[in-house]
Amino acid sequence: MKTIDMRSDTKTLPTEEMRLAMYEAELGDDVDGEDPSVNRLEKLAAEMLGKEAALYTTSGIMSNLLSVLTHTRHGEEIILGSQSHIFWYEVGGASALGGVVMRTVPNAADGTISPVDFKNAIREQDLDFPRTSLLCLENTHNRCGGTVLTQEYTSRMCATAHESGLKVHIDGARIFSAAVYLGIPVSRLVKDADSVCFCLSKNLSAPVGSLLCGTQEFITRARKWRRMLGGGMRQAGVIAAAGIVALQTMVERLAVDHQNARLLAEGLAKIPGIIIHPERVQTNIVLFEPPETVGVDIFLHHLKEQGVLLSSMGGRTIRAVTHRMISQDDIKSSIEAIGSAVEYL
Ligand SMILES: Cc1ncc(COP(=O)(O)O)c(C=O)c1O
Repeated sequence: MKTIDMRSDTKTLPTEEMRLAMYEAELGDDVDGEDPSVNRLEKLAAEMLGKEAALYTTSGIMSNLLSVLTHTRHGEEIILGSQSHIFWYEVGGASALGGVVMRTVPNAADGTISPVDFKNAIREQDLDFPRTSLLCLENTHNRCGGTVLTQEYTSRMCATAHESGLKVHIDGARIFSAAVYLGIPVSRLVKDADSVCFCLSKNLSAPVGSLLCGTQEFITRARKWRRMLGGGMRQAGVIAAAGIVALQTMVERLAVDHQNARLLAEGLAKIPGIIIHPERVQTNIVLFEPPETVGVDIFLHHLKEQGVLLSSMGGRTIRAVTHRMISQDDIKSSIEAIGSAVEYL
């Protein structure tokens, strides 16, 4: 029985082309800036994102943390969505290591933060208040089901932030999915942000790593923070080589994952009792709830036994993520398995 693993797009394995590139990668000591493969990856990432420079990091979490450390000072406040990955899933690192207060404002179902809520959350100058120094946006939005922030929205939020002296960081773990959905170059989508990070190891199928992009001056300071955190990786070209292949070959195909996610959502919407909003599915994440009479744990366990792996988002919400290793046939089989599970349970 084939396992259909839709728990996350982090489950993707490198392609043959990536493995070959890893084998053949030119290497050097990246801590001293001497790894040609890492240098090539950073240059390519900066060009694609339309930023001056980029820094290869171990993970999305490290990129987000480096951004907070570089943009802010201890005791300052950052504004971010109540459903943001930085707030939920990064072990409180921004506060624990960055020393900043995380001020959340509600995320709407589409992953946006209301511009009015944002403006109201920016602190006035007052002896008693911490200084607000950073806005973090997330695109696509993980907990909101892979929803996309538009370029117009992003630019508007950046303008408001900049007027008040704040910097803007975009957690763009899946930013290429957003750009493919919108049909625009990713550089245009993030043009007004001060920094943006994206992951190679999720929907782009590479085995390891993220890139943090911004001005040369910002990246130089972030590089120092990365060194302090022990994130200097020496002959990292071994893994960076796969990242180059990911950027060259894995972006356009994201549209296939988005189609498969929509197919899944439409199929699930036809199963009696399943709670889902198919119209909200824009990229590769599908959120739904099993029928009220069925427990989430039993449901997930039963599906696992049928070879379909999905994950719990807490409460009754279940997440399915499409990716390179999930075919249209897998989607059809999953819909059948979920339909049978609902009948059986
Ligand atoms: C929006 C978002 N940001 C950051 C991360 C963290 O990435 P990593 O697991 O590579 O640290 C994730 C991981 O799922 C994510 O979805």
